[in-house]
Amino acid sequence: MAEERMLITGGQRLEGTVRVSGGKNTAVAIIPAAILSQTPCVIENLPNIEDVNVSVETLRYLGAKVDWDPDAGVMQVDSSTINCTEVPLDLCSRMRASSYYIGALLARFGEAKVPLPGGCNIGRRPIDQHIKGMRVLGAQVDTTAGLVDAKCAQLTGGDVFMDMVTVGGTINVMLAAARAEGTTTIYNAAKEPHIVDTANFLNSMGCKVKGAGTDVIRVRGVKELRARRPYAVIPDQIETGTLMIAAAATHGDVTINGCIPTHMEALTAKLLEMGARVDERDDSIRVRSMGAHRAVTFKTQVYPGFPTDLQQPMSALLCTATGTSTIVENIFESRFRHLMEMERMGARVRIFDRTAVIEGVSQLHGAAVEASDLRAGAALVVAGLMAQGTTEISNTHFIDRGYEHLEDKLASLGAKISRVKY
Ligand code: EPU
Repeated sequence: MAEERMLITGGQRLEGTVRVSGGKNTAVAIIPAAILSQTPCVIENLPNIEDVNVSVETLRYLGAKVDWDPDAGVMQVDSSTINCTEVPLDLCSRMRASSYYIGALLARFGEAKVPLPGGCNIGRRPIDQHIKGMRVLGAQVDTTAGLVDAKCAQLTGGDVFMDMVTVGGTINVMLAAARAEGTTTIYNAAKEPHIVDTANFLNSMGCKVKGAGTDVIRVRGVKELRARRPYAVIPDQIETGTLMIAAAATHGDVTINGCIPTHMEALTAKLLEMGARVDERDDSIRVRSMGAHRAVTFKTQVYPGFPTDLQQPMSALLCTATGTSTIVENIFESRFRHLMEMERMGARVRIFDRTAVIEGVSQLHGAAVEASDLRAGAALVVAGLMAQGTTEISNTHFIDRGYEHLEDKLASLGAKISRVKY
């Protein structure tokens, strides 16, 4: 297959309006959750991204009937034809969220075999808390052959105390608990918007999930879940944030429509601190920036703290802020590789374990750089938009995993951005 690269000629001010797509991290949870429904499910506002395509392939591999219209963002899933409970390694290795098939298949069919995810370019990604939760619900789980082999004819509710706040662990246990007998209580649960959206989706099918969005979630399992009406996933919080950062980075004036401003508070506060102007309405955010930005300090935290997924694009913006910025990455152990790439563009960065110290420079310059993961790719795009000259980003497949038509959206705002095949 030909390799694709993104070319960005920086220095163009972004201006205009843009609509945010449906949430990736919600989509990759809600699509496997459709396995729980006895009746066909219709899911709307799905982004046309590679992670959704892999989710479709996974469901089809398992035997589900899936109609996916990527242009409309609408998917119909009929899980009544599923005849397999084992997800193959090649599909798992293409999408981190494949662990959700453990909870969904186990709850619906009493068994699941899903390869263990390995580490990735942002650090270790263990799923011990997911497995602990399944065991509390009564599943026998064996992980000795490099895969999670889980069995239980009928799961039973229980108390699951998460040792750390985990988005994936919380969602996976919610999926498993949806058809368990009795009530499951998840303590120290994650509170991210996609947790709430997944809970709302389960409730729309007749499950009884309470407390999503707080750190204690109670799931009263039901014998049968039935999709009754189409369900639209929430807008993508991280795409919204990436576009907000891109607007500030180019000293632009951009209105992002179709977003949920309350999901963006941590970023909005930092952009205001840097000197950008942010105006919120019910479902849109306008970001304007005129003069120089001030350096800031932040730590990534679980929601509603500053999201790790925006740490990377935000750090690109800080490369040209006046003064010294400090970032502490608390969620993943190695999420600064993009900064080393940005050194090729003139960024001045020092990294001490989980802390990055960025000394602002007056100008980045274009260079050939390589994306090492999805949000690293987004960070390099932001850097490319700010830089003088042309930036060539390789490994664009990472960006396609999670951003729908990113270059079209940026081009519509005035960016000089294109793709070339080699
Ligand atoms: N962790 C464990 N054990 C577990 C689960 C997690 O030690 O059983 C650790 C992880 O190693 C990590 C921390 O806990 O250090 C948080 O991991 P979490 O489970 O919350 O992350 P995740 O579910 O694997 C999701 C998003 C990520 C996002 C994180 C944090 C999806 C599909 N992925 O990952 O999104 O960074 O939550 O908010 O929802 C991205 O979109 O680029 C992305 C990486």
